[in-house]
Amino acid sequence: MKPAARKKSRTRFTLRHGDCIAGMAKLPADSVNVVITSPPYNLDIAYRSYRDNAPREAYLEWCGNWAAEVQRVLKPNGSFFLNIGAMPVNPWLPHELVLRLRSQFVLQNTLHWVKSITVQPKDGGEISAGHFKPLNSKRYINDCHEYIFHLTRNGDTPLDRLGVGVAYADKSNIARWGHTDGKDKRCRGNNWFIPYKTIASRDGERPHPATFPAQLAEWCIRLHGLRDGLVVLDPFLGIGHAAEGARACGVKKFIGFEIDAGYLREACKRLGVPAPKMRCAD
Ligand SMILES: C[S@@+](CC[C@H](N)C(=O)[O-])C[C@H]1O[C@@H](n2cnc3c(N)ncnc32)[C@H](O)[C@@H]1O
Repeated sequence: MKPAARKKSRTRFTLRHGDCIAGMAKLPADSVNVVITSPPYNLDIAYRSYRDNAPREAYLEWCGNWAAEVQRVLKPNGSFFLNIGAMPVNPWLPHELVLRLRSQFVLQNTLHWVKSITVQPKDGGEISAGHFKPLNSKRYINDCHEYIFHLTRNGDTPLDRLGVGVAYADKSNIARWGHTDGKDKRCRGNNWFIPYKTIASRDGERPHPATFPAQLAEWCIRLHGLRDGLVVLDPFLGIGHAAEGARACGVKKFIGFEIDAGYLREACKRLGVPAPKMRCAD
């Protein structure tokens, strides 16, 4: 017997060089199911071309402007996953930003992307896993997480909680709790441990100063719920981890914008797709 033909899951990437506000303005309203993005955090990060040090108020106003486009293109039951981190010297930033978006979105869930953690297994001891940037400080502790704010237009976007579910540690809970339906899966909760991959050379393997792992994007998309015709958008594409995550879970259409030609070229290289026309030489 012939083996069953494997269904090919091809993602169609529309990747554009340029400003995402202008780019999103060309997309139809209510046309995107999932936005997953990490904008610049205004923490003076050394990007190739973008200057990450605007006056605080100008930065927040700009965020309101691109978020307005996100709100316009997002479907009424869509999900906007906003990844943002802070620095110990700038701890209010994620909260200020999400408060600024309060007039545009409902904060439906708050997740924590945990980059490094220490747990105590039942048999004793401690296990540490993941990576973090060590801080040499008498005042601050190492910052091992970033926020993922799950913003929606109405606060009632249904989610596929078991799409990123985990097995029960205590299997007797499966029968004890009626809502399990006999399945060995429970909601993962809002602490997501996703470490960066260990790399030997940043320039060679991850040439961008502020990325998230593709798995983070993949889990956000799975949590929103996989279905036919899903359209996923990242307005701040960087080197393309959201696109990789979308491909990993079989999304058919992905749209991304990136203002820096070098990062966009790298994203295309990693995805194995031709680079689009760049708006100007870099
Ligand atoms: C935090 S990084 C995103 C990294 C991405 N998540 C990844 O994993 O590769 C933010 C990116 O936004 C880009 N950017 C800044 N302003 C932009 C704009 N107006 N439109 C599109 N991209 C912009 C920067 O060049 C930078 O690559």
